[in-house]
Amino acid sequence: MWLAALAGGAALPSVTSAKARPDITLRFSHVVAEETPKGLAASRFKVLVEQRSGGRIGVQVFPNAQLYGDHDEMQALQLGAVDLVAPSLSKFGRIGLPEFELFDLPFLFDDLSAVRRITLGPLGQKLLQGLPRQGLVGLGFFDNGFKQMSANRPLLEPRDFVNLRMRVQASRVIAAQMRALGARPVTLAFSETRQALATGVVDGTENPVSNFWTQHMHEVQSDLSLTEHGYLGYAVVTNQRFWQHLKTSDRALINQALQESLAFANQIADTQNDQALQALRQAGTTRIHTLTNGQRQRLRQAVQPVQQQLASRIGPSWMQDLKLALGHG
Ligand code: LMR
Repeated sequence: MWLAALAGGAALPSVTSAKARPDITLRFSHVVAEETPKGLAASRFKVLVEQRSGGRIGVQVFPNAQLYGDHDEMQALQLGAVDLVAPSLSKFGRIGLPEFELFDLPFLFDDLSAVRRITLGPLGQKLLQGLPRQGLVGLGFFDNGFKQMSANRPLLEPRDFVNLRMRVQASRVIAAQMRALGARPVTLAFSETRQALATGVVDGTENPVSNFWTQHMHEVQSDLSLTEHGYLGYAVVTNQRFWQHLKTSDRALINQALQESLAFANQIADTQNDQALQALRQAGTTRIHTLTNGQRQRLRQAVQPVQQQLASRIGPSWMQDLKLALGHG
């Protein structure tokens, strides 16, 4: 599929003098397809680590919730059954880190440079520093992009959402956003979403186009509305015990490869979403709607109370830091 070659990196030589069997094998589990920003970053990471360690450190990537899904991947990491996961930032609230849900606040970021003010700034560092409370270490953030809304009807005005059952990730902020629009949020694992849409268990959902397309949601949703109402990004996390037991030089090698892979994901994320949108247009299964400024403004107004309502879940001091970092008075 498109861009699959990018992950292997045509410019990256293959591991020629690789050891037959690695001394260490890192297991990296994730829930999305390989041809997404996260899937491609994971594949890139594998190539870099194996190449630079001469095959001494291996990486096994398990995409598409093959091994663990949303409900158990974090627990699998805490138990040491896998070594790396990269859940969306919306999935940290339920392991006792609700401050990560600040990223889910609707219409919070005007663009990706606003996101960077958090992820590359002191607030991002402070968020990652909370992970050891759960026996985890946070290694960095990266993007998928901005989310769009889908259903079997256009979703252009708040009234279009009324009474729709919308699949959401396990984030109270996203649930509140759907309620503010008059919809009924239904929390489901990512891997169960397409089926739930197909069988009518839910009516619609939200995601960046690369996830929508690679999960074949377009086959079961007639309309995609380009709302860009919220951000979807990830944090890469590892198990603290595992991380501390690595040799310092191996830790440095793995971390360096990971940081490069995350930078790579950030570079390609936009293109991936654009290409998925183009593929979707060509497939012709789904009507694609662009919102007028007025429509987007009305959605924005409808979800505005969410900031106030969820401030106590996220934490008042986090909200204050957030406003300062974004320059929102
Ligand atoms: C979702 O559950 O919708 C996303 O978090 C999936 C992902 O990892 O991109």
